[in-house]
Amino acid sequence: MKIVKTVSEVRQQVKEWKRAGLSVGLVPTMGFLHEGHKSLIERAAAENDKVVVSDFVNPTQFGAGEDLDSYPRDIERDAIICQDAGADLIFHPEADEMYKKGACTMVDMTGEITSELCGKTRPIHFRGVCTVVSKLFNIVCPDRAYFGQKDAQQLAVIKRMVCDLNFDIEIIGCPIIREEDGLAKSSRNTYLSDEERQAALVLSKAVILGKSMAESGEKDACKIVNEMKQLIEKEPMAKIDYVKAVNAETISPISEMNGSVLVAMAVYIGKTRLIDNFIYEC
Ligand code: PAF
Repeated sequence: MKIVKTVSEVRQQVKEWKRAGLSVGLVPTMGFLHEGHKSLIERAAAENDKVVVSDFVNPTQFGAGEDLDSYPRDIERDAIICQDAGADLIFHPEADEMYKKGACTMVDMTGEITSELCGKTRPIHFRGVCTVVSKLFNIVCPDRAYFGQKDAQQLAVIKRMVCDLNFDIEIIGCPIIREEDGLAKSSRNTYLSDEERQAALVLSKAVILGKSMAESGEKDACKIVNEMKQLIEKEPMAKIDYVKAVNAETISPISEMNGSVLVAMAVYIGKTRLIDNFIYEC
């Protein structure tokens, strides 16, 4: 497995693979990899001849006051995880390789799909995500790209972007990977103190509650959301950013459990903002 830092090195390698008739899977990441990323890389390795993992903390998707500088980084550890999971190439560029001096083109998406849920408190986030993911798609030209369902809104946004901009790439959403006690795996879990780590379990408990209400036939999405909120509010260290039921594809708010429903939440545990969700098909 190779680690490269420049766009031209990636292009050269991928061209060689394509000339040999090999398929290529891409797993875009911001590094500090965990079991969730590993499951994406393993799936990509099972479904493609070659796998590229991008490992880049993308500055354009962080707002002012967010954790760009403190975001955890460890390329040596990431390389071991990638190798074990079956990756062939890690693309680990510096910011000035991805964003050349004078860069002023961004990929923006309007509407509820980006303004609802995380878009309300992170207004520039999805513009940064769409921009960097488009760039990665143009650099790697993969046949398939893999994203986690934990970032369900991001997955919906990427699918929309691929459709709107005619990228010839199959987008594959992969299930949320959880710790044994239920906490969804996230690079940001490392910010939590022991006490906060315990308090963070309230997110997955709310997911279990909401899912079981939906499975028992509750059709009123507001009732499900309210019960989940009440459960989270019982945890003194938790502060809700949002708990909402939306259409899983368009991210438009819904009041009835109908079709493909995403029930998503963002909750601060101390200073750390965590997300979790479930999708219910009815
Ligand atoms: O999900 C992430 O880690 C990032 O948003 C992504 C897709 C790698 C873009 O920087």
